[in-house]
Order: sequence, then C-alpha cells, then structure tokens
Amino acid sequence: MSDCIQLVQKLAEEHRLTLAEYETLLRERSDALAAALREQAVRVRQAIYGNAVFTRGLIEISSYCKNNCFYCGIRAGNPKAERYRLTPEEILECCREGWTLGFRTFVLQGGEDPFFTDEVLCPLLRQIKQEFPDCAITLSLGERSRNSYQALFDAGADRYLLRHETADKEHYAQLHPASLSWEHRMACLTTLKEIGYQVGCGFMVGSPGQTERELAKDLKFVETFRPAMCGIGPFIPHRDTPFAEQSGGSVELTCYLLSILRLMQPNLLLPATTALGTLDPIGREKGVLAGANVVMPNLSPVSVRKKYALYDNKICTGEESAQCRGCLERRMQTIGYSLVTDRGDPKQI
Ligand code: 5AD
Ligand code: FES
Repeated sequence: MSDCIQLVQKLAEEHRLTLAEYETLLRERSDALAAALREQAVRVRQAIYGNAVFTRGLIEISSYCKNNCFYCGIRAGNPKAERYRLTPEEILECCREGWTLGFRTFVLQGGEDPFFTDEVLCPLLRQIKQEFPDCAITLSLGERSRNSYQALFDAGADRYLLRHETADKEHYAQLHPASLSWEHRMACLTTLKEIGYQVGCGFMVGSPGQTERELAKDLKFVETFRPAMCGIGPFIPHRDTPFAEQSGGSVELTCYLLSILRLMQPNLLLPATTALGTLDPIGREKGVLAGANVVMPNLSPVSVRKKYALYDNKICTGEESAQCRGCLERRMQTIGYSLVTDRGDPKQI
C-alpha cells in the first residue's frame, strides 16, 4: 500500500510509470488508493481547467454499421437492431438547436455506414462550419482511408474520436472478428494525428478478457500516444450480441482509471461518459469528481435515440436535447462545477 502511494506520487510528478508499475497500481486498487488518486487528479484538473466542464453535443448520425464487433449492439450481425440514418438537413437542424443551447462542439458519431461517403460528408461539414464558425466539429465515424480523413479535415473537421479499444493485439482479436485488424486501427490513429486532427483514443473498462495487464497496456499506450482526448467507459453487455452473458465493467474502476489518466496527462480532455451514467445514476458526477472534465449530452432527435443502442438500458433516450443539457448543467452545479459555452480545446501547458 505505501509502495503504491509512492507510485501515485511518482505519477503526479513525472506523469509516467513503467508498464509493471501501472499493473501494480491496478492490481493493488483499494478505496484508500482511489481516494489518493482522486484527490491529486482533482487538484491537477482544477489548476488547469478550474471548475469548468466542457460540453459537446452528440449527434448520432447513423445506426448502420458494416462491422461486427462482438460487444456492440449496432453490429451488422444483429438483425434486431433498428437502423436509421439522419439526413444532412436533420444533422444541421441538430447543430442549430445545439448552438442555441450553448454547445460549441458538435460530435457527429455513427456506425461505419457506407452511405456517409466523403461526397455526402464534406459539403455538410463545410455548411456546418459556415453557419457556426465559432464551433468545433468532432467526427467519430470509425476507420476510413487516409484520403478520406484528409478530405474531411480539409472540409472543416477539427477532431476525430477513434477508440483504440485495447492496446493488446491478442485482446483485440477476442473483441473483434478476424476481418478487423488491430494494426489497421492503430495506423488510423497515427494517420489522424499526422493530418493534424485533435485525436481521441480510448477503451472500454471491463471488456471480456481484459485484466490488469491489458489495462496497463492501455495506459502505456495513452501515455506514449499523447492524444488530445481519451474516452473511457464501462463495458455494458447488449442482449443481442455474442457478449450478452458477459459481465460488465465497474464505475469504480472507470473512475480509478480516469484519475490515473488525469495525472498522466494533466491537460487531457476526459469525458465522463453516458455509459457511466447508465450504470450509476450519479456515474457522471463520480467521473468528474475523479478527474474527468467533459460531458457529452445527446443532441440526436428523440425519434432515433433508442435506435442508437450500443449497449442495454442507455440513458437519455426519451429526453429532449434541452432536457439533457439542463439536466447536466444542474448535475454539475450540484457538485460545484459548471458547464461552459466554449469549444473546449485542450489547454496548452
Ligand atoms: N458497452 C460500452 N461501450 C461500448 N461501445 C460499443 N459497445 C459498447 C458496449 N456494449 C463503445 C466502444 C466504441 C464506442 C463508440 O462505444 O468503445 O468505440
Ligand atoms: Fe440526458 Fe440527464 S443528461 S436527461
């Protein structure tokens, strides 16, 4: 325990540990260590971001996906998944409503839907940028070619979220069919960075086959890759996937990892995810109190929200956009933080 407290200290001072040290910190997890990490993480986040929590309006543009990730509810092989895609005009409408509500970042997220070619997306991105020049656009549309990433960047996309899912190649193969390659996913992340995007990577917590060893590798990867953002959330089984009977991740471990990530990279943009809020009614508050500094309320039209079901029991599927924004605003105020109307770029330190 006292050895581990020293690891917390070392992480806070040097922002890095060895792979074995990360693994030790995870294996020795205790309430006392979690409290020590949390305290340091909040101090560090406070020094850089104060009480501000950044917010991004999440627009779920398509539930079609050509992939078959074993964990995901909208995998191509799930015949029960309800499919929809928003039209460019509907997406623009979401942005308009979002801007009025105070969002200055729009996240366009969807499955890998062949409909959303560069020819469809680029004019839309240009239109969003023209109408909302003070906003950042984040894309989260999976693996694409370098040319496509470049074209989308040139058309106005500022950021790209592509969770690496796991930094361990063998573990990747346990979560994905053979048609998906770990090398290709990692190469996409490098490409995105080379093009000039603010890049977000990330992983699920408690995915099947994940041990402290895999998580330590994830931490090491984030430490060396130095993303602008890192999205982590508990794995939550979806009933119509091969992982239906698997157990899910925990809020406590996710928060523990959030604190470690904050200390590792003090200016990192770290969302308290919807999955956290799904597992625990105050999961997102716990995330922020562990070091997260971003929330991503749902801006999708209510008519499609239930259909974008990556996991079971997702929250906010019946709420209007304004309700989600207001709800998070109040929740953050309750714990002494406030949502800001700002693009929410990472602070350079
Ligand atoms: N539980 C939690 N997170 C999930 N994701 C996909 N399926 C699930 C699930 N069942 C995450 C993946 C993906 C992101 C969009 O959502 O990490 O990258
Ligand atoms: Fe959607 Fe609370 S964030 S209702």
